[in-house]
Amino acid sequence: MGELFWNKVAGVVIATVLAVLAITELGHLLVPSHGAHELTDENTAYPVDWASLGTSGHGDAEPEDTGPTDYGLLLANADLSSGERVARRCAACHTFEEGGANGVGPNLWGVVGADIAAHAGFSYSDALTSLDGDWTFEALDAFIENPSAFAPGTAMSFRGLRDETQRMDLLVYLRSLSNNPVALPEPLPAEGEMAEEVSDMAEGAAEAMGGMNDEGAEDVAEAASEDAPAQDEPQEDGGH
Ligand code: HEC
Repeated sequence: MGELFWNKVAGVVIATVLAVLAITELGHLLVPSHGAHELTDENTAYPVDWASLGTSGHGDAEPEDTGPTDYGLLLANADLSSGERVARRCAACHTFEEGGANGVGPNLWGVVGADIAAHAGFSYSDALTSLDGDWTFEALDAFIENPSAFAPGTAMSFRGLRDETQRMDLLVYLRSLSNNPVALPEPLPAEGEMAEEVSDMAEGAAEAMGGMNDEGAEDVAEAASEDAPAQDEPQEDGGH
């Protein structure tokens, strides 16, 4: 096999690469590509009734933003007696009355607002003792919804309560198991109110700043007019 053979091989390879590139380029030239762009009035050749297609034409149909869970609102509407019924599912392992015995799980009197894994006389798993903080409504909600997701390795072999209404009912029941129940959270302000509050705040701030500037200017002016004679006095005194 002479040198010429390898030259031929190289030639064929280079020719192939060039051909592929050329075909790709040609393709782009012939069919303008919009790549990942959404179809819009600007890049469609004829008017499209976007509304009837259920799209704005800009692909901005974002999944509905449900926002943070409004515990204040949910708990205010929860049903304590239904929660007591839901709690029967926990009764195989937990007692609820004050001073009740620990079973498979710890007694749950006063658990809302208590430190996580802190009930006297119960030996918790590392999964739970390694968690910091209190049993807030939020933490309890997450734990009860899916114990092993909230505290991987937890000894609580309960597969979780997926129904939010049942969890909220249960939470108000758990909250009632106390001589001094923690306060229910405030409902989040509605979106309209929130916008109003923000604009009120902005107005207030603007006024405060405006007032400050006016007063500031007055203060400076006053200080200046008071200072002037005050500065002169010692000189006059010194003169006499
Ligand atoms: C099969 C038994 C079992 C069932 C059913 C069960 N739990 Fe538990 N629970 C446990 C065990 C065990 C622990 C301790 C977990 C650990 O140490 O990891 C625990 C821990 C807890 C804790 C943490 C308490 C603390 O002092 O930090 C809460 C809260 C709790 N369970 C609530 C519930 C609720 C509410 C239900 C019913 C919806 C329920 N559990 C059902 C066994 C159970």
